[in-house]
Amino acid sequence: MPEPSPAAGATVAQFPRGVAPAVKETPFIRIDGVTKRFGSFTAVSSVSLEIRKGEIFSLLGGSGCGKTTLLRMLAGFEDPTEGRIFIDGQDMTDLPPYERPVNMMFQSYALFPHMTVERNVAYGLKHADMTASQRADRVREMLALVQLSDLGQRKPHQISGGQRQRVALARALAKQPKVLLLDEPLAALDKKLREATQFELMDIQDRTGTTFIVVTHDQEEAMTLSSRLAVMDKGRIMQIGNATEVYEYPNSKFVAGFIGSINFFDATVRDIKGDMARVDVPELGGPVDARAIPGLVPGQPITLAIRPEKLSLSRTRTDAANAFPGTVRELAYFGKDSLYRILMPSGRILSVNSVNARRVGENERVADWEDAVWLSFDPAAAILLKD
Ligand SMILES: Nc1ncnc2c1ncn2[C@@H]1O[C@H](COP(=O)(O)OP(=O)(O)OP(=O)(O)O)[C@@H](O)[C@H]1O
Ligand SMILES: [Mg+2]
Repeated sequence: MPEPSPAAGATVAQFPRGVAPAVKETPFIRIDGVTKRFGSFTAVSSVSLEIRKGEIFSLLGGSGCGKTTLLRMLAGFEDPTEGRIFIDGQDMTDLPPYERPVNMMFQSYALFPHMTVERNVAYGLKHADMTASQRADRVREMLALVQLSDLGQRKPHQISGGQRQRVALARALAKQPKVLLLDEPLAALDKKLREATQFELMDIQDRTGTTFIVVTHDQEEAMTLSSRLAVMDKGRIMQIGNATEVYEYPNSKFVAGFIGSINFFDATVRDIKGDMARVDVPELGGPVDARAIPGLVPGQPITLAIRPEKLSLSRTRTDAANAFPGTVRELAYFGKDSLYRILMPSGRILSVNSVNARRVGENERVADWEDAVWLSFDPAAAILLKD
């Protein structure tokens, strides 16, 4: 278990994973206004970030957005052009990698092919000040931690991809770093193994209490693994929050579109009453009630965003606040859910995701090709975005 900070007391432990405690904790890692330029190109731009002890924090973003560069600066392989980095209250900015309480598992975590699993893990201790027997004990402990105790004598080519990934993790954890940086740790694994390994990573993090910073471009992975995540674009941090916050309350079109799929509409604010706003949405064919955001004024152009799973389909009009008629254009059945493409009278096509909760026959679906349907959604599911 991660140690709760003394100031926060016992209340911290009562929060499930993914829910940020209300109590302000002192950050364990503080990245303060960090910029990295390579010549005239800015790879990381004024990043400020605080990470708590024992978190699994993910950096999520597309290729080239600066994730690896930010990790390399934390590890000390790259100097920030501007800004400072603190770990456990100590300024790390000018310390070399080996003097930082940090280890990094690289994007391609090459194991040594000619060494056994055991020797690969022991390699992680090569600079450690330990006796041979302490070293052997630690290797045993690490192999037990990643559940590979029986495979210590094998060579990397004699074990599976997921097992190789765990050897690399054991090697990176062997020196007991306070912070482990993992750059795309699961990228080499297939979907099933990835999902299983995500849970193992969470479990290992929980047992060691090490703070993990994980880089990924896979949004589902970031949402599953992390206590909190930062969405990055072009070297900048766009939003920081837990999985629910970034998925349900995106702060920009970029974040809304990057995490999950979403329907965007051009809209205009008609009026605001308390915490509700009514916006005109020509493509839907009428006004929409949505939860207001601060600073709206009538006449203001705005973007309305609705996730496909928040739209309900029915054959008849319901009494929902927001209901619009359309026609089923396409239908894809995926087993656990179905994806509908609905054509609106305006010509706009919407994506609707419907969970197949019941086991139904061929002719009992909610709607079929070319059926006239009603689309409805709750005002709370309608997201308004200014940019
Ligand atoms: N040493 C370097 N010199 C010049 N440009 C660099 C250097 N290292 C990285 N860059 C550039 O900085 C940007 C960010 O690179 P970085 O490796 O941090 O991206 P990333 O988010 O990790 O991407 P990926 O998901 O593809 O691994 C890229 O445009 C890259 O080309
Ligand atoms: Mg990278």
